[in-house]
Amino acid sequence: MTFPKDFLWGAATASYQIEGSRTEDGRGECIWQRFSHTPGKVKNGDTGDIACDHLNRYAEDVALMREIGLQTYRFSVAWSRVLPTGVGTVAENGLDFYDRLVDELLKNNITPFVTLYHWDLPQALQDNGGWENPDSVKWFTDYTEVVTKALGDRVKNWITHNEPWCVAFLGNMFGVHAPGKQDAKAAFAVAHHLLISHGTAMNVIRQNVADSYAGITLNLAPKYPETDSDADKKAAYTADGIQNRWFLDPVYKGVYPADIVEKASEYLDGLDLSAVKQAAVPTDFLGINYYMRGIVRAEENPMGFNEKMADYEGVELTAMDWEVYPDGLHDILVNTARDYDVKALYVTENGAAYDEPEPINGVVEDAKRVSYLQRHFAAAEAAIAQGAPLKGYFVWSFLDNFEWAEGYTKRFGITYVDYATQKRIPKRSSLFYKDVIKAQTAS
Ligand code: FCB
Repeated sequence: MTFPKDFLWGAATASYQIEGSRTEDGRGECIWQRFSHTPGKVKNGDTGDIACDHLNRYAEDVALMREIGLQTYRFSVAWSRVLPTGVGTVAENGLDFYDRLVDELLKNNITPFVTLYHWDLPQALQDNGGWENPDSVKWFTDYTEVVTKALGDRVKNWITHNEPWCVAFLGNMFGVHAPGKQDAKAAFAVAHHLLISHGTAMNVIRQNVADSYAGITLNLAPKYPETDSDADKKAAYTADGIQNRWFLDPVYKGVYPADIVEKASEYLDGLDLSAVKQAAVPTDFLGINYYMRGIVRAEENPMGFNEKMADYEGVELTAMDWEVYPDGLHDILVNTARDYDVKALYVTENGAAYDEPEPINGVVEDAKRVSYLQRHFAAAEAAIAQGAPLKGYFVWSFLDNFEWAEGYTKRFGITYVDYATQKRIPKRSSLFYKDVIKAQTAS
């Protein structure tokens, strides 16, 4: 493999998944704390109370990143750690944590990419309507003001939102993520305010951070028709509309895709759709999280939510039952660069969960993850050869962590976490990644 010399190699995490989130630490409650403490919502009743205890172990974790050779690290800020009720008074000790983390990264020559919102909305704001409330745009903008003012002298790389599709639809339509609502109208309102707040936050980042480099992260998936029939092709286009174009068109063109506006009209009542033009503030890059493709079959549901992810017979799956399909990464990178005016692309997440063996002699042998990563790196390399302006890659995840509704049952890390002792143990994949980074960055 040969990647451009200035290609950035990194790994990603998110606040609620690793930090340890107890209100006793001075942070305000967030929606994932409430949701995970609600019986029946998360597997085994797992919560993020302790998680990887990264709040206390961040220095050890940064040392490990350095050991792997990571050039960059993507993490998110917990809104309610900085502003316990989401607005108003700043918790200085919360902000201090990120201050120390950033300093530690820079001391170790690791460039931070900071995500402002990776799903942990302050519960106080949810109690006030959350992202359904149009005021959420101002709440997020003001929060962005606080964080960029505090860290913007050292952090240049900013991501406004992580995967607004998941926030809107998993959280508010399917109810499998916090806040656990099942209300399609709410989901579209949430998506609308997330998109607008991306634009307003971009403006704040530009104002507060000299030489800022900023964008948004979307979970994109290429959608392929199951057969060549016109009906399946149309269904694939609709599925692409819901997951991809519903977010890409506002960010790059300031409008919603007309075909989906028509199909979803019953859920869009009362929203001023034209306001989404505020989302189209020029970005420096687009972050793409890639995990799977969609194979779409025309069925009765006209909304495109009927896609079946794959024909599971004989298909290679991860422990999440997600199909392993590296070509999809190639396709989504190439197609997105073709269809939208992206200046640069980053894979801001890609990785896999596997049921892997216990550590032996201090290493977890995760051959499947090594193979998964190898094949996805190759797909990324092929996309660059086709002209996709891909500038970096963040493996999900640096550590095993709290996998949302799956709790601790799914391990995505290239580093194993023994949750009983909080010991970090390398997996073979981190040693493999270390070699890749070394080879690709050798001068
Ligand atoms: C993505 C999330 C990330 C992680 C991976 C597996 O959707 O952004 O936090 O849970 O999935």
